[in-house]
Amino acid sequence: MKFKLKSGLTLSKENEDVKIFQGPDPILTCKGFSSIIERIFSSLAFEQEEEDLVGKMQAEEGDLSLLFYALELLKKQGLFIYKTQLVELTPFNARFQFEGRLSEDPYQLSRFVICRPSSEEIVLETPLSSAQIVIRERTGMDLFYVLKKPILFSEIRRQFSHLSLKELQETLTLLSSAKVLSTTKEDEASSQWEYHDLFFHSRSRAGRHHSPYGGTYRFKGKVPPLPGVKNCPSKKMLPLPSFEEESDKSLNTVLEERKSIRTHGSNPISLEQLSEFLFRCARVKKMHVMDDQEFTSRPYPGGGARYELELYPVVHQCKGLPQGIYHYHPLEHQLCEVSGFSLSAEKLLKNACRSSAKKEYPQLLIVISARFSRVSWKYQSMAYALILKNLGILYQTMYLVATAMQLAPCALGGGDSDLFCEAIGTNYLEETSVGEFMLGSTVAPDFDPQMI
Ligand SMILES: Cc1cc2nc3c(=O)[nH]c(=O)nc-3n(C[C@H](O)[C@H](O)[C@H](O)COP(=O)(O)O)c2cc1C
Repeated sequence: MKFKLKSGLTLSKENEDVKIFQGPDPILTCKGFSSIIERIFSSLAFEQEEEDLVGKMQAEEGDLSLLFYALELLKKQGLFIYKTQLVELTPFNARFQFEGRLSEDPYQLSRFVICRPSSEEIVLETPLSSAQIVIRERTGMDLFYVLKKPILFSEIRRQFSHLSLKELQETLTLLSSAKVLSTTKEDEASSQWEYHDLFFHSRSRAGRHHSPYGGTYRFKGKVPPLPGVKNCPSKKMLPLPSFEEESDKSLNTVLEERKSIRTHGSNPISLEQLSEFLFRCARVKKMHVMDDQEFTSRPYPGGGARYELELYPVVHQCKGLPQGIYHYHPLEHQLCEVSGFSLSAEKLLKNACRSSAKKEYPQLLIVISARFSRVSWKYQSMAYALILKNLGILYQTMYLVATAMQLAPCALGGGDSDLFCEAIGTNYLEETSVGEFMLGSTVAPDFDPQMI
C-alpha cells in the first residue's frame, strides 16, 4: 500500500540530531541518523509504496537497516498516512497500532462506526480507535455497504472481483486496523456502551481524535458572544419578594440530611421560599466586562465562568404565584412570565411524574436550559460535556440549599427538550433544556410518604 508523511510535520536540525515537530509541538528527537530522516522527509512528502522507497535507497546505496529502523520509528509515532485505491487511514497519534493479519472469520462493520462528510470527504470514525478512515472512491462506499452484515473475505472477493487481491487485502487491513471492522464477539465492557455515549465520551476527552481541544475561541471575531445574562423573554416582570435570612445549619448537617424527596406537603411552597431558593442558588452576585465579553459570578462554580444555564420554574402550586411557566432573571432577581398554565406546561409536569414514578404533579418543576453558544463560542470538542458538568454542580447546589431550607428537592435524569422549546419558544439549537429539578414543601414529619 502507499503511504506518506502526515501534513503539518516539520524538521529542525541541531548538530547531528533532528527534531520532528507536529505543528508547534516537538514529538520526536532522532539522534545520530539525521540524514536518513531528512531523506525520508523529502521522499515521503508524496505518497509511494514502501518497496519503491526501499528500491530507491538501494539504488543510492543507502543503509537499508537504518531505513527500516527509521520507518518503523515514524510508523510507531503515527506519522504516516496509509492509502489504498479505496480508503485512506490517518492515525491520530502514537497509540494507533497496525493489525497486519487478515481474518478467517466473517468481517462486519463495528456498530460504533460513524460515517459523516468532512471537507468534501466521507469520513469513518469510531471511538474504539485512534485513527480515522476516508473513503476515496464510490467502490469504497459499496464495500462499506456490503459490510453491514457478516461477510467472509472469500465472498467480498467474489463481489469485488474487479479489484486485485492485494488491493482488497490492504483495504481490509486498513479498515480492521482502524477498528471500523470487527470480526470477534463484543466483550462485556464494550457491549454495555451505546454508540452515541462512547462517541461523545471519546470526542469530548483528549486522546482519540485530533480536533483542537479546550478554549480555542474559534468564533471570536466571527459571531458576537452572547450576553452574560439572558434578556427577559417577555415584558411581564415579577419582582421576587424579600425574605428573612435564617441562621443556617452547618454544612456537614446539610450534607448529612440531604436526600431526594419526591412527595410534597399539602401546604405548598411559598413565593418567598422560591425567592430565597433562587437567590441562594443562582443569582448573579457580580458582573464585569473583560475583552468585550460579559462575565458574571454566581453562587455555584461554572466552567470558564460562562454561566450558560437558565432556570425556568414551571409552577403547579406556589402560594402567591399564579400557575404557569416563568424565567428567572438572575441579575434583577425577578421572574419573567413566559406563559400561563399551557398544555406544554402540563406535559412538562406529567413527564416529571413519569420520571419520578409519582402520580401527583410536583409543586414546582424547575427546568434548566443551556444557552449553548455561551460555551461553544469559547470551548471546542468539550462544550456539551462541560455544560452537563455545570448542570451537575447546579443540581447539587439546589439540593443543598433546599435541604438547608427544609424543602423537598429531587433532580431528574431525563426530559423532553423539544417539548421545552415548544413551551418557551426557543430554537432547539440555540437554547433548550438539559435538566429538570422538582421542588416543593416537605410533608409533616409524622406523615408517612410510603402510604401514597
Ligand atoms: C443527575 C441525577 C438524576 C436523577 N434522576 C432522577 C429521576 O429521573 N427520577 C428520580 O426519581 N430521581 C432521580 N434522581 C435522584 C436519585 O435517584 C437520588 O439522588 C438517589 O437515589 C440517591 O438518593 P438521595 O438523593 O436521597 O441520597 C436523580 C439524581 C441525580 C443526581
